[in-house]
Amino acid sequence: MILDPNDLSAGDLYGYLSTAVAPRPIAFVSTVDANGRVNLSPFSYFNVFSTRPPILVFSPIRRGRDGSAKDTLNNVHEVAEATISIVNYPMVEQVSLTSTEYPTGVNEFGKGGFTEVASEVVRPPRVGEAPVCFECRVNEVIALGEGGGAGNLVVCEVLRIHVQEGMLDDDGKLATRKLDLVARLGGSDYARITPETLFEIPKPLRNCGMGIDQLPAHIRQSTVLTGNNLGRLANQEQLPDADTINQVRDLPDVQRARRRGTVHLHELAQVYLREGRVVEALAMLV
Ligand SMILES: Cc1cc2nc3c(=O)[nH]c(=O)nc-3n(C[C@H](O)[C@H](O)[C@H](O)COP(=O)(O)O)c2cc1C
Repeated sequence: MILDPNDLSAGDLYGYLSTAVAPRPIAFVSTVDANGRVNLSPFSYFNVFSTRPPILVFSPIRRGRDGSAKDTLNNVHEVAEATISIVNYPMVEQVSLTSTEYPTGVNEFGKGGFTEVASEVVRPPRVGEAPVCFECRVNEVIALGEGGGAGNLVVCEVLRIHVQEGMLDDDGKLATRKLDLVARLGGSDYARITPETLFEIPKPLRNCGMGIDQLPAHIRQSTVLTGNNLGRLANQEQLPDADTINQVRDLPDVQRARRRGTVHLHELAQVYLREGRVVEALAMLV
């Protein structure tokens, strides 16, 4: 199926974009207007775009029905400051509630039952319940269009980072396994990041993965090994040397699998990969 965005209704276009570009983190944004009235709303068109300077960007889009601007957008034009809180599971239903289109001037801290905590260097208060909150100066607002659905990139520079107690690991680093993060997907779907849903991929940081094109053809063309299996194998710097290959060939389970045929050998390699024994998996395949 190939689609031209110009042929799609606004709703369908939103559906394709927001369902495919997922999961998205959620920025829970507090702002104030020129009179100091506080606003709080979630935005999942959001990410980090620079480390130094530390830049976060979120996008309040113009309302589909009349192209009008959301309070958050008006506020950052009036007072170029915001706090961006990261949303985790314990607060996500309350966060969703604050996305109700309350009239301008209504403070959604109250509607969502959140605690206003005075920020250190910006006027908008921050969300006391958030696991992490960034105090930001708004450097720039870039309008991406004028009509309904048009985004506005709110470019925020982080001035302070607040981290809730209990969110660090033993090394003092922010711990994914403690944050209990949530993400927005298409429609009404959300995802929760728990230790069970996490998996690790070793980074080829110091070394340089040899690449799938360097694997022997009979491995690349395996009917058993998946793209993920090949990616993990080819993350090794080089093929194993003869000694390693001979040692692995002598392992009883490898000998047994070899006798039973290629499919069994490749299935055993998958077991080794799952156990993190990548060199041995590669050696038995070579
Ligand atoms: C999880 C979640 C993510 C959202 N993401 C966005 C977004 O990225 N952009 C947007 O314009 N609206 C988004 N919304 C809707 C706004 O939160 C909603 O329009 C809100 O009323 C805007 O508030 P404001 O007028 O006070 O700024 C999202 C709503 C939820 C619940």
